[in-house]
Amino acid sequence: MTAGANLRINSARLWDSLEEMAQIGPGIAGGNNRQTLTDADSEGRHLFAGWCRAAGLTMGVDTMGNMFATRPGTDSAALPVYMGSHLDTQPTGGRYDGVLGVLGALEVVRTLNDMNVQTRHPIVVTNWTNEEGARFAPAMLASGVFAGLHSQDYAYSRTDMEGLRFGDELARIGWVGDEVVGSRKIHAMLELHIEQGPILEAEGREIGVVTHGQGLWWLEITLTGRDAHTGSTPMQMRLNAGLGMARITERVHQIAMSHQPGAVGTVGQVKVFPNSRNVIPGKVIFTVDIRSPDQTKLDLMRGEVERAAYAVAAELGLGCEIEDVGHFDPVTFDANLVNIVRQSAEKLGYSQMDVISGAGHDACWINRVAPTVMIMCPCVGGLSHNEAEEISPEWAAAGTDVLLHAVLEVAGVVG
Ligand code: GLV
Ligand code: MN
Ligand code: MN
Repeated sequence: MTAGANLRINSARLWDSLEEMAQIGPGIAGGNNRQTLTDADSEGRHLFAGWCRAAGLTMGVDTMGNMFATRPGTDSAALPVYMGSHLDTQPTGGRYDGVLGVLGALEVVRTLNDMNVQTRHPIVVTNWTNEEGARFAPAMLASGVFAGLHSQDYAYSRTDMEGLRFGDELARIGWVGDEVVGSRKIHAMLELHIEQGPILEAEGREIGVVTHGQGLWWLEITLTGRDAHTGSTPMQMRLNAGLGMARITERVHQIAMSHQPGAVGTVGQVKVFPNSRNVIPGKVIFTVDIRSPDQTKLDLMRGEVERAAYAVAAELGLGCEIEDVGHFDPVTFDANLVNIVRQSAEKLGYSQMDVISGAGHDACWINRVAPTVMIMCPCVGGLSHNEAEEISPEWAAAGTDVLLHAVLEVAGVVG
């Protein structure tokens, strides 16, 4: 049986839940700082878990803290259909990045409960741990362990800028579950997310059907020079790691510009030692994030950034170490699920277009182990990873309606 086009989610309830979650881990400018494995992350998880209980779902948590809330299907042998995203945020994050995907999935289940709709396959609402990678690189760490890309030991040993370990922090906030990570089998996975870019709004479309995701490299570069007095050290006698960082930052920008269209490059995080105004920086650690949907460009850019960094360091007499801290290849989402999303948007009368995801998502890793797709809705001015990130209740509802209908198509309506 197919769900009728008049079946819609409860938009006001979804919006209320988004607003309530945003009260946890408030930022400084109306957004959120609910970074992974902080007390605020734990509080957000408890709120979500309570809502899942109230919706009659059964919660499982794995050893990476991934949360799985199950609504049974009528066929106990059928593998579950997963929906979800992440509740963690950037340090100056918006209210909707990730959160819409988790709470939209919960709203789908609440709607099925209201309408007494049964599905053949069970449905699972998921919150993946540490999608952002802001505190512990790489991004999508726990879905990466789930999909077998990283070992759990590697994940547990990742440290934040204060030297705290992922494994210790997960235990400290009380969210180490007992399920073996990756032991679940997935029939299909659907992730609803805000676009985080300007295309849908500019084109006046309500739904982005995500056909591909761009690939990325994250590098961490350590330049080593010599701390020395800024006043008394002549310019020609300096080993200035700060200057090296500045030159490499410029080169990263130029390299991405030289691979247009479809390439981006950013130095986003910098740690300067000793970080004193009258000491020439003796050491700088900084991150490089390069992305493209084109594998050839991605790999070319990585090589060019590395060569540029070594060349700048040699010119300035600095030591240079480059560590890979994250990588995934460009992603092609499941063609059948992409069609189901297109048809769902069509059936509901929402305007749509195909898009490529510019950001990384848990769906990019889960795509390795199960058929996966993403649905996107616009965000104002394309702004994300900013506390001012904004969406409209109507956009949120349209994306969640499409999620509802796509999930029902995949999970099979009974009756
Ligand atoms: C995750 O949010 C990323 O794309 O960096
Ligand atoms: Mn996200
Ligand atoms: Mn994000």
